[in-house]
Amino acid sequence: MPILPVNENVLGVAVERLRQGDLVGMPTETVYGLAADATNSLAVARIYERKGRPQFNPLIAHVSNVAMARREAHLDQRAEQLMQRFWPGPLTLVVPIASDCSVCDLARAGLSTIALRMPNHPTARALIEGLNRPIAAPSANRSGHVSPTTAADVAFEFGKELLILDAGPCVIGVESTIVELLPEEPARLLRPGGITREELLAVLGKLDGPGTNAVNAPGQLQSHYAPRARLRLNAVDVREGEVFLGFGPTMVSGGENLSARGDLKEAAANLFTLLRRLDEQGANAIAVAPVPETSLGEAINDRLRRAAAPREGEGART
Ligand code: TXA
Ligand code: MG
Repeated sequence: MPILPVNENVLGVAVERLRQGDLVGMPTETVYGLAADATNSLAVARIYERKGRPQFNPLIAHVSNVAMARREAHLDQRAEQLMQRFWPGPLTLVVPIASDCSVCDLARAGLSTIALRMPNHPTARALIEGLNRPIAAPSANRSGHVSPTTAADVAFEFGKELLILDAGPCVIGVESTIVELLPEEPARLLRPGGITREELLAVLGKLDGPGTNAVNAPGQLQSHYAPRARLRLNAVDVREGEVFLGFGPTMVSGGENLSARGDLKEAAANLFTLLRRLDEQGANAIAVAPVPETSLGEAINDRLRRAAAPREGEGART
Protein backbone atom coordinates (compact mmCIF):
# COMPACT_ATOMS: atom_id res chain seq x y z
CA MET A 1 0.00 0.00 0.00
CA PRO A 2 1.27 3.42 -0.88
CA ILE A 3 1.41 6.76 0.84
CA LEU A 4 -2.10 8.23 0.60
CA PRO A 5 -3.24 11.78 1.28
CA VAL A 6 -5.94 11.77 3.94
CA ASN A 7 -9.62 11.91 2.93
CA GLU A 8 -12.85 10.23 4.08
CA ASN A 9 -12.34 7.18 1.86
CA VAL A 10 -8.76 6.61 2.87
CA LEU A 11 -9.68 6.98 6.54
CA GLY A 12 -12.33 4.29 6.07
CA VAL A 13 -9.80 1.93 4.50
CA ALA A 14 -7.31 2.60 7.30
CA VAL A 15 -9.88 1.91 10.04
CA GLU A 16 -10.82 -1.35 8.31
CA ARG A 17 -7.18 -2.38 8.20
CA LEU A 18 -6.76 -1.63 11.90
CA ARG A 19 -9.91 -3.63 12.63
CA GLN A 20 -8.35 -6.60 10.82
CA GLY A 21 -5.18 -6.37 12.85
CA ASP A 22 -3.00 -4.63 10.25
CA LEU A 23 -0.65 -1.73 10.87
CA VAL A 24 -1.12 1.81 9.56
CA GLY A 25 1.29 4.75 9.41
CA MET A 26 -0.52 7.44 11.42
CA PRO A 27 0.27 11.16 11.53
CA THR A 28 0.20 12.95 14.88
CA GLU A 29 1.26 16.46 15.90
CA THR A 30 4.54 15.12 17.37
CA VAL A 31 5.88 12.40 15.04
CA TYR A 32 4.33 9.74 12.78
CA GLY A 33 3.25 6.59 14.62
CA LEU A 34 3.07 2.92 13.62
CA ALA A 35 -0.53 2.26 14.64
CA ALA A 36 -2.37 -0.91 15.66
CA ASP A 37 -5.55 -1.79 17.55
CA ALA A 38 -4.27 -1.66 21.15
CA THR A 39 -6.71 -4.35 22.26
CA ASN A 40 -5.47 -6.90 19.69
CA SER A 41 -2.29 -8.61 20.88
CA LEU A 42 -1.54 -10.13 17.46
CA ALA A 43 -1.68 -6.70 15.88
CA VAL A 44 0.51 -5.28 18.65
CA ALA A 45 2.98 -8.13 18.17
CA ARG A 46 3.32 -6.96 14.54
CA ILE A 47 4.44 -3.54 15.79
CA TYR A 48 7.26 -5.04 17.83
CA GLU A 49 8.24 -7.27 14.94
CA ARG A 50 8.27 -4.49 12.33
CA LYS A 51 10.16 -2.10 14.58
CA GLY A 52 12.65 -4.67 15.80
CA ARG A 53 11.79 -3.33 19.25
CA PRO A 54 12.79 -5.00 22.53
CA GLN A 55 9.63 -6.56 23.95
CA PHE A 56 10.08 -5.00 27.36
CA ASN A 57 9.47 -1.54 25.98
CA PRO A 58 5.75 -0.72 26.44
CA LEU A 59 3.71 1.35 23.96
CA ILE A 60 1.55 4.45 24.30
CA ALA A 61 -2.22 3.90 23.98
CA HIS A 62 -3.77 6.80 22.06
CA VAL A 63 -7.32 7.83 22.94
CA SER A 64 -9.73 10.20 21.20
CA ASN A 65 -11.37 11.63 24.30
CA VAL A 66 -11.14 11.81 28.08
CA ALA A 67 -13.96 9.32 28.63
CA MET A 68 -11.97 6.66 26.80
CA ALA A 69 -8.96 7.38 29.02
CA ARG A 70 -11.11 7.09 32.16
CA ARG A 71 -12.29 3.63 31.08
CA GLU A 72 -8.71 2.35 30.76
CA ALA A 73 -7.05 3.78 33.86
CA HIS A 74 -7.26 5.27 37.34
CA LEU A 75 -6.91 8.99 36.89
CA ASP A 76 -6.28 11.01 40.02
CA GLN A 77 -6.79 14.73 40.46
CA ARG A 78 -3.36 15.55 39.06
CA ALA A 79 -4.16 13.52 35.95
CA GLU A 80 -7.49 15.27 35.52
CA GLN A 81 -5.84 18.67 35.83
CA LEU A 82 -3.14 17.81 33.31
CA MET A 83 -5.66 16.38 30.85
CA GLN A 84 -7.80 19.45 31.12
CA ARG A 85 -4.87 21.75 30.53
CA PHE A 86 -2.86 19.85 27.88
CA TRP A 87 -5.17 17.42 26.05
CA PRO A 88 -5.40 17.05 23.19
CA GLY A 89 -1.66 17.54 22.91
CA PRO A 90 1.87 16.19 23.31
CA LEU A 91 1.53 14.94 26.89
CA THR A 92 1.48 11.22 27.80
CA LEU A 93 0.36 10.12 31.26
CA VAL A 94 1.61 6.89 32.85
CA VAL A 95 -1.11 5.83 35.28
CA PRO A 96 -2.40 2.64 36.97
CA ILE A 97 -4.68 0.50 34.78
CA ALA A 98 -8.37 0.06 35.53
CA SER A 99 -9.47 -3.47 36.36
CA ASP A 100 -11.25 -3.81 33.00
CA CYS A 101 -8.53 -2.12 30.95
CA SER A 102 -9.00 -3.15 27.30
CA VAL A 103 -5.42 -2.51 26.18
CA CYS A 104 -3.68 -5.87 25.80
CA ASP A 105 -0.87 -6.99 28.10
CA LEU A 106 1.63 -7.04 25.26
CA ALA A 107 1.10 -3.34 24.51
CA ARG A 108 1.75 -2.61 28.19
CA ALA A 109 4.63 -5.09 28.34
CA GLY A 110 2.79 -6.76 31.20
CA LEU A 111 2.93 -3.69 33.45
CA SER A 112 0.08 -2.65 35.74
CA THR A 113 0.42 0.88 34.43
CA ILE A 114 -0.54 2.32 31.05
CA ALA A 115 0.74 5.25 29.01
CA LEU A 116 -2.18 7.33 27.68
CA ARG A 117 -2.20 10.21 25.26
CA MET A 118 -4.83 12.15 23.30
CA PRO A 119 -3.12 13.44 20.15
CA ASN A 120 -3.90 16.90 18.84
CA HIS A 121 -4.33 15.75 15.27
CA PRO A 122 -7.62 15.32 13.36
CA THR A 123 -6.42 12.24 11.43
CA ALA A 124 -5.18 10.40 14.50
CA ARG A 125 -8.38 11.15 16.40
CA ALA A 126 -10.57 10.14 13.43
CA LEU A 127 -8.77 6.78 13.31
CA ILE A 128 -9.29 6.16 17.03
CA GLU A 129 -12.92 7.23 16.81
CA GLY A 130 -13.50 5.07 13.73
CA LEU A 131 -12.00 2.04 15.44
CA ASN A 132 -13.70 3.04 18.68
CA ARG A 133 -10.78 1.56 20.64
CA PRO A 134 -7.41 2.88 21.83
CA ILE A 135 -4.62 2.76 19.26
CA ALA A 136 -1.14 1.60 20.24
CA ALA A 137 1.46 3.56 18.32
CA PRO A 138 5.17 3.97 18.87
CA SER A 139 7.08 6.31 16.61
CA ALA A 140 7.12 4.80 13.10
CA ASN A 141 10.83 4.14 12.89
CA ARG A 142 12.89 1.02 13.31
CA SER A 143 14.07 0.69 16.89
CA GLY A 144 16.94 3.08 17.57
CA HIS A 145 16.51 5.12 14.36
CA VAL A 146 15.51 8.77 14.02
CA SER A 147 11.76 9.37 14.50
CA PRO A 148 9.76 10.14 11.33
CA THR A 149 8.15 13.54 10.85
CA THR A 150 6.84 13.05 7.29
CA ALA A 151 5.02 10.24 5.45
CA ALA A 152 8.09 9.81 3.23
CA ASP A 153 10.23 9.18 6.35
CA VAL A 154 7.84 6.38 7.35
CA ALA A 155 8.04 4.83 3.86
CA PHE A 156 11.82 5.02 4.09
CA GLU A 157 11.71 3.03 7.35
CA PHE A 158 9.11 0.40 6.45
CA GLY A 159 8.72 0.34 2.69
CA LYS A 160 5.61 1.06 0.71
CA GLU A 161 3.60 -2.05 1.55
CA LEU A 162 2.49 -0.21 4.70
CA LEU A 163 -0.57 2.02 4.32
CA ILE A 164 0.72 5.45 5.33
CA LEU A 165 -1.67 8.35 5.84
CA ASP A 166 -0.02 11.51 4.60
CA ALA A 167 -1.08 14.63 6.50
CA GLY A 168 2.08 16.63 5.80
CA PRO A 169 4.97 17.29 8.17
CA CYS A 170 4.41 17.07 11.95
CA VAL A 171 3.96 20.46 13.57
CA ILE A 172 5.83 19.72 16.81
CA GLY A 173 8.51 17.33 15.59
CA VAL A 174 9.63 15.79 18.91
CA GLU A 175 7.72 13.12 20.82
CA SER A 176 5.31 13.76 23.65
CA THR A 177 6.40 14.54 27.19
CA ILE A 178 5.83 11.54 29.49
CA VAL A 179 4.74 12.09 33.10
CA GLU A 180 4.23 9.24 35.55
CA LEU A 181 1.45 9.65 38.15
CA LEU A 182 1.39 6.80 40.65
CA PRO A 183 -0.55 6.74 43.94
CA GLU A 184 1.40 8.16 46.89
CA GLU A 185 4.24 9.11 44.56
CA PRO A 186 5.34 12.51 43.31
CA ALA A 187 4.71 13.26 39.64
CA ARG A 188 7.77 12.15 37.69
CA LEU A 189 9.06 13.37 34.34
CA LEU A 190 10.00 10.19 32.43
CA ARG A 191 10.74 11.84 29.09
CA PRO A 192 10.99 15.53 28.15
CA GLY A 193 8.99 16.36 25.03
CA GLY A 194 6.49 18.70 23.39
CA ILE A 195 5.09 20.05 26.69
CA THR A 196 7.84 21.80 28.64
CA ARG A 197 8.86 21.32 32.28
CA GLU A 198 7.86 24.94 32.94
CA GLU A 199 4.35 24.32 31.61
CA LEU A 200 3.98 21.20 33.77
CA LEU A 201 5.27 22.94 36.88
CA ALA A 202 2.66 25.66 36.45
CA VAL A 203 -0.01 22.97 36.97
CA LEU A 204 1.71 20.47 39.27
CA GLY A 205 3.86 22.70 41.46
CA LYS A 206 6.42 19.90 41.80
CA LEU A 207 7.97 17.44 39.37
CA ASP A 208 10.53 14.74 40.20
CA GLY A 209 12.91 12.93 37.90
CA PRO A 210 12.46 9.26 37.00
CA GLY A 211 12.51 7.04 40.12
CA THR A 212 15.24 4.48 40.68
CA ASN A 213 12.80 1.63 40.01
CA ALA A 214 11.72 3.21 36.74
CA VAL A 215 11.87 0.03 34.70
CA ASN A 216 10.74 1.93 31.72
CA ALA A 217 12.06 5.41 31.96
CA PRO A 218 11.83 6.01 28.22
CA GLY A 219 15.06 6.26 26.48
CA GLN A 220 16.02 3.44 28.87
CA LEU A 221 18.32 2.66 26.01
CA GLN A 222 21.12 5.13 26.11
CA SER A 223 21.67 5.22 22.37
CA HIS A 224 18.40 6.08 20.68
CA TYR A 225 17.02 8.34 17.98
CA ALA A 226 20.32 7.86 16.24
CA PRO A 227 21.29 8.88 12.72
CA ARG A 228 24.06 6.96 10.96
CA ALA A 229 26.52 9.83 11.28
CA ARG A 230 28.43 10.46 14.53
CA LEU A 231 27.38 13.50 16.50
CA ARG A 232 29.59 15.98 18.35
CA LEU A 233 27.52 18.21 20.63
CA ASN A 234 28.03 21.79 21.82
CA ALA A 235 30.34 22.37 18.87
CA VAL A 236 31.64 25.90 18.44
CA ASP A 237 33.73 25.03 15.38
CA VAL A 238 33.63 22.58 12.50
CA ARG A 239 36.46 20.11 12.21
CA GLU A 240 37.81 18.20 9.25
CA GLY A 241 35.22 15.74 7.90
CA GLU A 242 32.27 17.26 9.81
CA VAL A 243 29.14 19.02 8.64
CA PHE A 244 27.55 21.65 10.84
CA LEU A 245 24.09 21.66 12.38
CA GLY A 246 23.61 25.18 13.69
CA PHE A 247 21.24 26.89 16.10
CA GLY A 248 20.79 30.64 15.92
CA PRO A 249 22.90 33.02 13.86
CA THR A 250 26.13 31.36 12.77
CA MET A 251 29.35 32.26 10.98
CA VAL A 252 29.72 28.74 9.58
CA SER A 253 28.83 28.34 5.91
CA GLY A 254 27.21 25.15 4.65
CA GLY A 255 25.46 22.50 6.71
CA GLU A 256 21.99 23.11 8.12
CA ASN A 257 20.42 25.24 10.83
CA LEU A 258 17.81 24.05 13.36
CA SER A 259 16.57 27.63 13.61
CA ALA A 260 18.54 30.57 12.26
CA ARG A 261 16.52 32.92 14.48
CA GLY A 262 17.20 30.79 17.55
CA ASP A 263 13.59 29.73 18.04
CA LEU A 264 13.26 26.49 20.06
CA LYS A 265 9.85 25.56 18.61
CA GLU A 266 11.19 25.82 15.10
CA ALA A 267 14.29 23.84 16.13
CA ALA A 268 12.17 21.01 17.58
CA ALA A 269 10.09 20.81 14.42
CA ASN A 270 13.26 20.66 12.28
CA LEU A 271 15.38 18.36 14.45
CA PHE A 272 14.67 14.88 13.07
CA THR A 273 14.21 16.13 9.50
CA LEU A 274 17.63 17.75 9.46
CA LEU A 275 19.36 14.77 11.10
CA ARG A 276 17.85 12.60 8.36
CA ARG A 277 18.83 15.08 5.64
CA LEU A 278 22.46 15.24 6.78
CA ASP A 279 22.49 11.44 6.93
CA GLU A 280 21.12 11.20 3.40
CA GLN A 281 23.81 13.61 2.21
CA GLY A 282 26.31 11.01 3.42
CA ALA A 283 27.76 13.00 6.33
CA ASN A 284 30.05 10.90 8.50
CA ALA A 285 30.09 13.32 11.39
CA ILE A 286 27.80 16.15 12.47
CA ALA A 287 28.97 19.00 14.67
CA VAL A 288 25.93 20.35 16.53
CA ALA A 289 25.87 23.89 17.91
CA PRO A 290 24.88 24.37 21.58
CA VAL A 291 21.12 24.53 22.18
CA PRO A 292 19.89 26.17 25.41
CA GLU A 293 18.38 23.80 28.04
CA THR A 294 15.31 25.95 28.63
CA SER A 295 11.76 25.22 27.46
CA LEU A 296 11.70 22.84 24.45
CA GLY A 297 15.50 22.86 24.56
CA GLU A 298 15.32 20.16 27.24
CA ALA A 299 13.62 17.71 24.84
CA ILE A 300 15.89 18.71 21.94
CA ASN A 301 19.06 18.21 24.01
CA ASP A 302 17.73 14.89 25.37
CA ARG A 303 17.29 13.57 21.80
CA LEU A 304 20.67 14.96 20.72
CA ARG A 305 22.47 13.32 23.66
CA ARG A 306 20.88 9.98 22.83
CA ALA A 307 21.78 10.33 19.18
CA ALA A 308 25.37 11.08 20.21
CA ALA A 309 25.64 8.21 22.72
CA PRO A 310 27.93 5.26 21.89
CA ARG A 311 26.11 2.66 19.81
CA GLU A 312 25.53 -1.00 20.41
CA GLY A 313 28.58 -3.01 19.55
CA GLU A 314 30.85 -0.04 20.11
CA GLY A 315 31.88 -0.99 23.57
CA ALA A 316 30.89 1.82 25.89
CA ARG A 317 27.26 0.89 26.20
CA THR A 318 25.59 -0.84 29.13
O1 TXA B 1 4.74 11.63 20.62
C1 TXA B 1 4.72 10.45 20.94
O2 TXA B 1 4.63 10.09 22.11
C2 TXA B 1 4.78 9.40 19.81
C3 TXA B 1 3.52 9.55 18.95
C4 TXA B 1 3.43 8.48 17.88
O3 TXA B 1 2.39 9.53 19.77
N1 TXA B 1 4.92 8.09 20.33
C5 TXA B 1 6.06 7.65 20.91
O4 TXA B 1 6.03 6.33 21.28
O5 TXA B 1 7.04 8.33 21.07
P1 TXA B 1 7.30 5.47 21.65
O6 TXA B 1 6.79 4.07 21.76
O7 TXA B 1 8.39 5.71 20.68
O8 TXA B 1 7.69 5.96 23.08
C6 TXA B 1 6.84 5.66 24.15
C7 TXA B 1 7.59 5.62 25.43
C8 TXA B 1 8.54 4.45 25.49
O9 TXA B 1 9.85 4.90 25.71
C9 TXA B 1 8.05 3.61 26.66
O10 TXA B 1 9.08 3.11 27.43
C10 TXA B 1 7.20 4.60 27.44
O11 TXA B 1 6.66 5.44 26.49
N2 TXA B 1 6.11 3.93 28.15
C11 TXA B 1 5.02 3.33 27.63
N3 TXA B 1 4.29 2.77 28.61
C12 TXA B 1 4.93 2.99 29.77
C13 TXA B 1 4.67 2.66 31.14
N4 TXA B 1 3.61 1.94 31.50
N5 TXA B 1 5.55 3.08 32.05
C14 TXA B 1 6.63 3.81 31.71
N6 TXA B 1 6.93 4.15 30.43
C15 TXA B 1 6.09 3.75 29.48
MG1 MG C 1 10.35 6.18 19.51
